[in-house]
Amino acid sequence: AKWDPLKIMISGAPASGKGTQCEFITKKYGLVHIAAGDLLRAEVSVGSENGKRAKEHMEKGLLVPDEIVVTMVKERLLQKDARENGWLLDGYPRSLSQATALENLEIRPDLFIFLDVPEEILVERVVGRRLDPVTGRIYHLKYFPPESEEIAARLTQRFDDTEEKVKLRLETYHENVEAVLAIYEDVIIKVNGNIPKEDVFAQIDSALTRLLESKEKTHSTS
Ligand code: AP5
Repeated sequence: AKWDPLKIMISGAPASGKGTQCEFITKKYGLVHIAAGDLLRAEVSVGSENGKRAKEHMEKGLLVPDEIVVTMVKERLLQKDARENGWLLDGYPRSLSQATALENLEIRPDLFIFLDVPEEILVERVVGRRLDPVTGRIYHLKYFPPESEEIAARLTQRFDDTEEKVKLRLETYHENVEAVLAIYEDVIIKVNGNIPKEDVFAQIDSALTRLLESKEKTHSTS
């Protein structure tokens, strides 16, 4: 529906499955996937000034300062493809100040998906995660091993995916999560993220289907 495309946020603890669910959602709904962590890692890999500063914070499991992140995400959200096709914002906003920055621009989601996964599961997910630099797909050594030897040989690991660093990332997450959830209280759905990934998506898919139906109804009666 071109007249009013979907605007979705997805949040949850480190390794709760945000990126994994975004693969399913973009495939079915064609939204533009905007992941704050991916935008930052792209800056880190080109070695820009912002990238260097960002990496210092990411290595400590801390939030990257707003003056780097806020503009970066805002500019991406305002690009033509995201405005026309709708967006799926992943890992943003992560603090009260980031949420407030969006509110001030009158950028609000139709739905805020919160992936709920018990803490003891998260560390194992992080440590076993691997990424395919060619396709961008997310694997797990135990839960979703690569399909071929060729893929297995090229998998990479994120620099902040160690047990020690994920504990710091979790602390940062707990310091901020309540304030962000409070802002989106009226549009939150809480999804159990501790079941097979296809079943997690089934919950999200039915919420998105209902949302699209209600948007179409509003459009046809207005
Ligand atoms: P970011 O890249 O956003 O990392 P994160 O929030 O820690 O989340 P992850 O990407 O680790 O996990 P995910 O939820 O996407 O899980 P995935 O699907 O991969 O941020 C990194 C850093 O950047 C931050 O620490 C911060 O420094 C900085 N940053 C980012 N955003 C910022 C912001 N807004 N402001 C300031 N700084 C910011 O799944 C994880 C693993 O589990 C995979 O191996 C997967 O295969 C497996 N898995 C997924 N689903 C299932 C399932 N249902 N069952 C079993 N295994 C599963």
